[in-house]
Amino acid sequence: MNHTPVEGFSKLSKQEKIDWLLQEYLENNQDFKKVLEQYYNEDADLQKLHDEFSENTISNFYMPYGIAPNFLIDGKLLALPMAVEESSVVAAASKSAKFWLNKGGFKTTIINTEKLGHTHFILNVEPHKVLHFFNFKLKKKLLEATEAITKNMRNRGGGILNIKLIDKTADLENYFQLKASFGTADSMGANFINSCLEQFGKTLKEEVSKEESFTEEEKNSLQIVMNILSNFTPNCIVRAEVSCKIEDLKDDSGISNEDFAWKFKQAVTIAEIEPYRATTHNKGVMNGVDAVVIATGNDFRATEACAHAYAAKSGKYKSLTHCTTDNEIFRFWIDLPISVGVVGGLTNLHPLVKFSLSLLGKPSAQELMSILAVSGLAQNFAALRSLITTGIQKGHMKMHLLNILNQLGATEDEKKYFVNYFKDKTVSHHEVIDEFNKMRNL
Ligand code: MEV
Repeated sequence: MNHTPVEGFSKLSKQEKIDWLLQEYLENNQDFKKVLEQYYNEDADLQKLHDEFSENTISNFYMPYGIAPNFLIDGKLLALPMAVEESSVVAAASKSAKFWLNKGGFKTTIINTEKLGHTHFILNVEPHKVLHFFNFKLKKKLLEATEAITKNMRNRGGGILNIKLIDKTADLENYFQLKASFGTADSMGANFINSCLEQFGKTLKEEVSKEESFTEEEKNSLQIVMNILSNFTPNCIVRAEVSCKIEDLKDDSGISNEDFAWKFKQAVTIAEIEPYRATTHNKGVMNGVDAVVIATGNDFRATEACAHAYAAKSGKYKSLTHCTTDNEIFRFWIDLPISVGVVGGLTNLHPLVKFSLSLLGKPSAQELMSILAVSGLAQNFAALRSLITTGIQKGHMKMHLLNILNQLGATEDEKKYFVNYFKDKTVSHHEVIDEFNKMRNL
C-alpha cells in the first residue's frame, strides 16, 4: 500500500493523530486504538505530564521498574531502582549485591568530575597568530561574556574551569577549537554547557571582527561550525571496586575458590584483549548502569556513548572492568566515565524519578555516579560468575520462562506448573512449547 505524507502532524490532537495512523497504516483496525488507550493514565494531570515530556505522543510505553536490594556501597545499605525490560538483569544485580554484602560491600572513589565542550571553528589565520589572539584577548572576553550565564553555577560550586585553544589544522584545514572544561555541581549540565558555548561562538565572532592583527580577508574566513558539549568525559570518572581473600570466594556451583578466581580473571583479561568479547562484556556492564540511569531520569544514550568511547580510548576497544588476583586477594573494579545529574531535566518532574532519588537517599551527582558504577560492576560480576560456572542460559531462560508462557497465554495455574516442572531443568524455548502443547492436548 502506498502512503501519503502528512502535513502538520504535530498540530493534530492526540485523537486525530491516532485516527490518521489507523487510517493510513493499520487498516482502521480499532483494536489498535484500544492497545494505545490501555496505557493511558486515568489521572489526567499525570497523563498530560507524560505527554509533554516528548512530542507527538500517542500513548505511554511502560518499562518494568524493579528493585535490587542489599547493595552495601561505601558503608551505606541501598536498594537500587532499575528500569529495564531484559529478564535476569535485576536478579543478577541482587545476587551480586548479596554476594558482596558480607565481604565489605562496594567501595567507590570519585576520580574527577570535569565536563567538556567545544566551539568548533574554521579560521584561515596562522596558528601562532590565533594563539596569541586567544591568550592575550579572547580568553578574557569569553569569561567576561559568560559571567551572567555562569553566576548561579559558580554559586553552586561549578562554572567554567578552563578554556584552551586547540590547533587542529593538521587534521582539517584551518580547523581550531575552543575547548572548555566545566564543573556542573549536581546537574548533568548539558543546558549550562551549551549556553556557555553558544555565547563563546558569538564572542569569538565579535572579537575576530575587531582584531587588528588579522587582515580583512582573514577576518572574513571565520566560520563558527558548531558549539556543543562533548558526551566523551574521560575526566568525569568514578571507580567502584570489590575485593576479598580468594579463600572467601565461595560459589554455589561447586567450583573451587582458586579455580573461580583464575577463570574469572581469565574472562576479564579476554575482554581486555579481544574486542568481540569486550563489546558483550561492556554491554553487560551497561545493563546495570543504564537501568539505574533510566530509573533516576538521566540520559542513557549519553552514558552509553561515553562508556564505549572510553573503552576505546587506547585505540582498541577494551573491557571497562579489570581484575587482579595478586597476594591471594581477588580484586575487581571498574573505572566508569559518567556524567549524570540529580537536579534539572526529568529529575524534578517524573514522579518515579523522584521516587528513585528518594529511595537512594537523595544522592548528590557524585554519589549517583558511585551508585551507577557499582551497578555496572555488580552486573558484570554476576554475568562473569554465571559464564565461568553454569553458563548464562540456566538463569536467563528461567527468567525468560514467564515471557514465553505469557506469549502462549498460559493461566496462573499453568505458570505455576511450568515453574515447578523446570525447577531442576534448563529451560529451552522448544521444550516449553512442546510441554505446553502436550498439557493442552494441542
Ligand atoms: C546479556 O544481556 C549480557 C551478557 O551477555 C553479558 C556478558 O556476556 O558478559 C550476559
